[in-house]
Amino acid sequence: EPTAPHVVVLFGATGDLGRRKLLPGLAHLTLSDLTPDVQVVGTSLEEMDDEGFRQFARKALDEFSTKPVEGADWEEFAARLRYVPQSAGPDALASAVRDAEEQLGTDVRRLHYLSVPPKAARAVIKMLSEADLVEGSRVVMEKPFGTDLASAIELNDEIHQTFTEDQIFRIDHFLGKEAAQNILAFRFANGLFEPIWNRTFIDHVQIDIPETLGLDNRAEFYEQTGAFKDMVVTHLLQVLAFVAMEPPTALEPRAISEEKNKVFRSLQPIDPRHVVRGQYAGYRDEPGVSPDSDTETFIALKCEIDNWRWADVPFYLRTGKRMAEGQRIISIAFREAPKSMFPAGSGVGSQGPDHLTFDLADASKLSLSFYGKRPGPGMRLEKLSMQFATRETAEADDVLEAYQRLILDAMRGDHTLFTTSEGIESLWERSAPLLENPPMVKSYAPDSWGPNAIHQLIAPHAWRLPF
Ligand code: BG6
Repeated sequence: EPTAPHVVVLFGATGDLGRRKLLPGLAHLTLSDLTPDVQVVGTSLEEMDDEGFRQFARKALDEFSTKPVEGADWEEFAARLRYVPQSAGPDALASAVRDAEEQLGTDVRRLHYLSVPPKAARAVIKMLSEADLVEGSRVVMEKPFGTDLASAIELNDEIHQTFTEDQIFRIDHFLGKEAAQNILAFRFANGLFEPIWNRTFIDHVQIDIPETLGLDNRAEFYEQTGAFKDMVVTHLLQVLAFVAMEPPTALEPRAISEEKNKVFRSLQPIDPRHVVRGQYAGYRDEPGVSPDSDTETFIALKCEIDNWRWADVPFYLRTGKRMAEGQRIISIAFREAPKSMFPAGSGVGSQGPDHLTFDLADASKLSLSFYGKRPGPGMRLEKLSMQFATRETAEADDVLEAYQRLILDAMRGDHTLFTTSEGIESLWERSAPLLENPPMVKSYAPDSWGPNAIHQLIAPHAWRLPF
């Protein structure tokens, strides 16, 4: 379905996300035939002019674009970039947007992308209203959306004074990953697994997203946020909802968010006794980090969904910075066979239960591991695995990076892969016990799997990673 030409107004344009994902993503979309004409107006607290912004974008593309953008392509994208420092005020912003619109002809729509921390979001909304840039616009809000229940409610109230709900797109880029959508396809397009997708057959679930990445230049953001708000309350719990939700009546936004919200409502409040907060050794010496910082760079927790499908099935979540490996897996562990007829020492059970594993990496994979007979005399068993990789079945060009996919959806007005205020508010509500009473941070060695306490947390099970 074609979209109208768009002016994308990028707030926080010179931030880490702007460099890493948004500018490369916009370049790719602009140069592809997926979008009609696009013009970009960048704005942030930094003072620079159009030329400075183009140089900034050039560097960002060199460093982070998945495909090279050179020669005529680069000229074309660069010509579509302009910049207004936020200090220039609403009138200057409005006039830059008008200039951009004139390049695009009639029927132009605007997409305001708020790549700014929760505290700054309100000022931006106010500025958009003062600049009269509300009508005919949609607005994408970055996570975290608020920092607790009260601030999320306040932020929602504030936005609703300016924008209507159908103009608002609360982004969670994990939902734009091919593999996350593959969970829906896998669960609801096949008859094979749905009958066993419940407490009778599933023993526990792990959502494990270790990162090797450190802070980069994000100390200021990260100090206020920490691993729980940066990753869990958004990405991990959103993915959990795809795993745990009931089949929606249709694959459309309202039906999907109704089912996700039911999962969030049945989530047990997060119990601080089942949470391990960690901080990598050396974090407090990083530039921009307070020497007595209590911010967690690692978190592991157990949560439970109190409904008919999932009662007594623990969901273990883990994520952190500077860990041993970068992985993004969701692992479903099945119950063991009710009775083992295999002799002791045959190997059954020695390598853990059967698993179905979704790998959320950019080249997404799905694997099923189970016991089979090892060739040779006697009855010795070992784990075998079946693998399915989407890259093998898709044209590489069809794979859109998560942000590109979601920007495109927002331009088309499609809310299916965005989160709702109700969902976000119930997640903050479930998180309150942890936010009010966080356990002490425990130190862990960089390049490790986290503090030792992670093993106790998951016992009698074991973390599936490292493979
Ligand atoms: C972002 C977090 O939302 O997600 C980052 O703010 C994190 O801290 C990133 O590194 C991970 O995303 P991805 O797509 O690289 O797994």
